[in-house]
Amino acid sequence: MTGASGRLGGEIALAMAGQGYTIFFTWHSSEEKARETLEKIRWISPESQMTRCDVSKTGDIKAAFALFRQQFDRLDLLIASASNFYSTPLPEVSEDDWDSLVDTNLKGTFFTLQEAVKIMQKQPFLSRIITMTDISADLVWRNFAPYTVSKSGVQHLTKLFAKEFAPNILVNSIAPGTVTLNPDKDMESAEEMIKKIPLKRLGDPLDIIRTIIFLLESDYITGQILNVEGGRLLQ
Ligand SMILES: NC(=O)c1ccc[n+]([C@@H]2O[C@H](COP(=O)([O-])OP(=O)(O)OC[C@H]3O[C@@H](n4cnc5c(N)ncnc54)[C@H](OP(=O)(O)O)[C@@H]3O)[C@@H](O)[C@H]2O)c1
Repeated sequence: MTGASGRLGGEIALAMAGQGYTIFFTWHSSEEKARETLEKIRWISPESQMTRCDVSKTGDIKAAFALFRQQFDRLDLLIASASNFYSTPLPEVSEDDWDSLVDTNLKGTFFTLQEAVKIMQKQPFLSRIITMTDISADLVWRNFAPYTVSKSGVQHLTKLFAKEFAPNILVNSIAPGTVTLNPDKDMESAEEMIKKIPLKRLGDPLDIIRTIIFLLESDYITGQILNVEGGRLLQ
């Protein structure tokens, strides 16, 4: 799994350990959060490991997979969750913003999937890939153009990989609505968000984890984007 030092990512990694998986995960800049997450995971799954990886650099991705191959002999599930997110008002988007957001989210996911399928293709059993995207791929947020474009791109990649690598690899995407608030958001903005959600609450990590488990139990779903957003897209 990439990005298990993330707020939602850490919860997902822990839940997957609870499902019986040994976890190999990446972090990028949050070493302390990564260590805390690994410590919790190892209570359930002592063989689990982590490594630092900047997914915007293909050399880092290859090195992480080389380490994975040394330590593990099968890859059942890849969750590509590493992601960069910050606001970029449209007229002020810089080349650095574009590169930082699109290289991490879109290029990083592409090359992570490319390495994963090299292993999965050779396995004599069904493997799964889940990309983490965002309902904003379907919305028009002028303050988040590189982010939303990158998540739209990942949704398209999900379909491309699903078609190319069927029937041995199932590739789907989960697009959450708002699950965790950014630290700079206050309760007022949470209330404003909830007004736009027909089911009248923000998402919970458990909503996403249940969707992952649903996909793990399904053998006949591939190339799909599952929006987990309390009906937000109905507005
Ligand atoms: N949380 C939500 O409400 C929400 C809503 C919609 C979509 N999503 C999607 O769900 C996924 C998980 O969300 P989250 O809440 O865990 O996100 P998050 O808290 O922002 O964490 C992002 C993760 O990506 C990693 N990352 C960032 N830049 C990286 C890079 N260049 N190379 C490698 N890793 C990098 C971070 O590592 P470090 O911290 O170690 O740098 C962290 O593990 C993401 O794909 C996100 O877009 C989340």
